[in-house]
Amino acid sequence: MDQWQTSYQLYERAQKVLPGGVNSNVRISAPPFPLFFERAAGALLVDVDGNQYIDYALGQGPLFLGHSHPAILDAVNAAMRQGQLYAGQSRLELDVAETFVRLVPCAEMVRFGLSGSEVVQAAMRLARAVTGRTTILRFEGHYHGWFDNVLLSVAPPVTGETPRTARPPQTMSTGQVASAADDFLVLPWNDLALVEELFAERGHAIALVMTEGMMCNTGAILPEPGFLAGLRRLCDEYGALLHLDEVITGFRLGLSGAQGAFGVTPDLATFGKAMAGGFPNAALAGKALHMQRFAQDVNHSGTFNSNVISMAASAAALAELERDDGAVYRHVERMGSALMMGIREIAGRLDLPLLVQGVPSAFHLSFTNLPAIREYRDYALHCDKERYNRFTVELLRRGIRVISRGIWYVSAAHTDVHVAQTLAAVEGALREVV
Ligand SMILES: Cc1ncc(COP(=O)(O)O)c(C=O)c1O
Repeated sequence: MDQWQTSYQLYERAQKVLPGGVNSNVRISAPPFPLFFERAAGALLVDVDGNQYIDYALGQGPLFLGHSHPAILDAVNAAMRQGQLYAGQSRLELDVAETFVRLVPCAEMVRFGLSGSEVVQAAMRLARAVTGRTTILRFEGHYHGWFDNVLLSVAPPVTGETPRTARPPQTMSTGQVASAADDFLVLPWNDLALVEELFAERGHAIALVMTEGMMCNTGAILPEPGFLAGLRRLCDEYGALLHLDEVITGFRLGLSGAQGAFGVTPDLATFGKAMAGGFPNAALAGKALHMQRFAQDVNHSGTFNSNVISMAASAAALAELERDDGAVYRHVERMGSALMMGIREIAGRLDLPLLVQGVPSAFHLSFTNLPAIREYRDYALHCDKERYNRFTVELLRRGIRVISRGIWYVSAAHTDVHVAQTLAAVEGALREVV
């Protein structure tokens, strides 16, 4: 613990004034304890004890371009000198909206919010208004924010006997009213036959099917071939809307997100994180026919929506992402692939059951004997989380910071040197947890 002495002192102070010493519950479960940081630039993060880390947490995903990207900081600096909030419109928000419409397949119109949680709420309200129905289908292990009506079945207790048929979702926090789960149905992900069965039974009551395009919040799981297309077909057949929650995948899997990567265009899609390079911004995009309802009878509001700072950050981030025909994506692909292959090679050599799956920009590690994780239950029942936690602490000791949930985010700021240093640290850390 010597290495984190100052952090620990601050953590003890913090626990007296901040519940759990943190301001977002996910930060509580960060072994060895929630650290304090002082500065960050590019792929590197420095804590209050002066330890430097190569960062694969990347602020839980937003920092696809790396920390403190100079072009984004310059743009924000320049824009904020012209004011912060107009309670009116600016050219910036129009520019960013037009960029969305140009890049994102489902985006005929856009509305901006501040967090992924908020725009998911807007998507659900809009879908219910458009369809006149209330039921929303979603999937085990998917995270769509912390609000009462979405913090459902994100990490539900399951056993080998838990039925696979549709059931009411489970609330995940004390204080959530049981009625928060009313009007929601939940199924395991990636099993189209189950969705078909459910639609045959009550498809005409379903307003919205809400899914991550790639299941980044549990296991970096890719959709099975035909799964998303199957959801699209069922929604069309029964008059429901399809919502891809691209808060993680948006502008990370490519300029057109998961919908471009997997070739399925939803009716609605939500964005956050990477769209603003570390500043708070989020968007709901969708078909004009539906989105126009916000100009008619569906309310979506927010004091800070499309504020100058957030929009300047997004305008600069999107320009960087588009530069040189998406060069950053090619770079991230190369860095992430080298990491995935390198980690697999080391685990193989040490004869460790370490599964590496996902895509180069967002991949997942777990100690498991399964050949692949296909859905939440595989992760919940067959992965050794305690061992992974020990591994993350050993990595931290060696200057590598990852999220304990298993996901690794790669940024445009990671270099070949970082990759080589990371692989050396991975080997050392794995030897400690053999
Ligand atoms: C897929 C998805 N949707 C929604 C959210 C909520 O976003 P926010 O934390 O910005 O409210 C998250 C956050 O991680 C997410 O991963």
